[in-house]
Amino acid sequence: MAVKIPAKLDARALRREFPIFEQEINGKPLAYLDSANTSQKPRQVLDGMTRFYETSYANVHRAVHVLAERATSGLEGAREKVRALLNAPDAREVIFVRNATEGLNLVAYAWGGNNLGPGDAVVVTELEHHSNFVPWQYIANRQGSEFLMLEIDENGDPNLAQLDEIARDHNVKVVATNLVSNSLGTIHELAPLVARAHELGAIFVCDAAQAAPHMKVDVQAIGADFVAVSGHKMCGPSGIGVLWGRAELLQSMEPFLLGGHMINSVRVDKTTWGELPHKFEAGTSPIAEAYGLGLAIDYLQEVGLDAIEAHEHELAAYALGRLGEVPGIKLYGPPADRRAGVVSFNMEGIHPHDVAQILDLQGVAIRAGHHCCQPLMQKLGVAATNRASFYLYTIPEEIDQLVEGLHAVRKVFA
Ligand SMILES: Cc1ncc(COP(=O)(O)O)c(C=O)c1O
Repeated sequence: MAVKIPAKLDARALRREFPIFEQEINGKPLAYLDSANTSQKPRQVLDGMTRFYETSYANVHRAVHVLAERATSGLEGAREKVRALLNAPDAREVIFVRNATEGLNLVAYAWGGNNLGPGDAVVVTELEHHSNFVPWQYIANRQGSEFLMLEIDENGDPNLAQLDEIARDHNVKVVATNLVSNSLGTIHELAPLVARAHELGAIFVCDAAQAAPHMKVDVQAIGADFVAVSGHKMCGPSGIGVLWGRAELLQSMEPFLLGGHMINSVRVDKTTWGELPHKFEAGTSPIAEAYGLGLAIDYLQEVGLDAIEAHEHELAAYALGRLGEVPGIKLYGPPADRRAGVVSFNMEGIHPHDVAQILDLQGVAIRAGHHCCQPLMQKLGVAATNRASFYLYTIPEEIDQLVEGLHAVRKVFA
């Protein structure tokens, strides 16, 4: 039997492709441990976008001149790259939006606004980012439906049995969860949840904002009905995200935003909608941003998503081991092999913002706060945590710098 050798990436070599690391911060080498917040960008994306603006920029789908054709093929080429990345059946199902938040709002308003009513329930988990929580809470309340949460255990795994309890008294119409948690780093085993959601007649909405940068996300293998991702977390520019949805659902929905480009015909008595994906892409598209996302996808494919995932598991294991040496630290979340490159922690008796501020003086960038997960913070019984997060360009020395910084924090508060 052939032995499968795990793919490996060379983070040190990749790091040289990211100009941001060419500087010092506060006189120290930059340890950028905030990639779950947003990722840094390689030259291939930065230079490619500049070249696009310099040679191929015009509005798309609206003119016949050479530049318009170049720009349109740049945008549509990026759509095809997204389709391939997500293994979507059809590029028409790939809707360009500003970010994952907008994608999830689109589903909540355009699907939820017409399909939810009294007696129905929308179910999320305690571990959702506010982007996959607040739109559902709002639309459920507006439609007179129930908004309910599955509890999670200390690894971040949701209690599936609660879904059946909810289904006894409600028509479960939506189950919406993340694939990878931005706060605990948990990589979820979605199959049982998706299967149960579908048995109950619900749609399954997957927030893959934190998953798509780090692992292969296959919309058909997940069996999801909608999947949302953000470009800026996966080496692409900000201002571009993707909502993938099953064609028959997208076709059955009303548009979300109205105006130019999304119409078929406009008369005073009646306006008809354009075909997919244009029906959901009102106004001028994020043209160069979509092109840049396509370049980022090329980059990730070249590095290899399997190699990125393996690198992050290694870094998570290393970080959990090294951080465990720091006196008075509390680590949250599952074992390293169950998590992406995210480690949340607190230092006993020290506010997370103080920790992050002192680390910044050491050139270490982490995030402190509720990470847009206030329901999780309530569950953990804290107002905030510190979070270090890693990506394909993260090297173990950055984690060492974090650990040294935390010892310095301890001394300040001794
Ligand atoms: C799990 C998860 N979902 C959704 C989002 C929202 O992404 P954006 O702010 O790009 O819309 C984030 C961002 O941190 C996230 O981590």
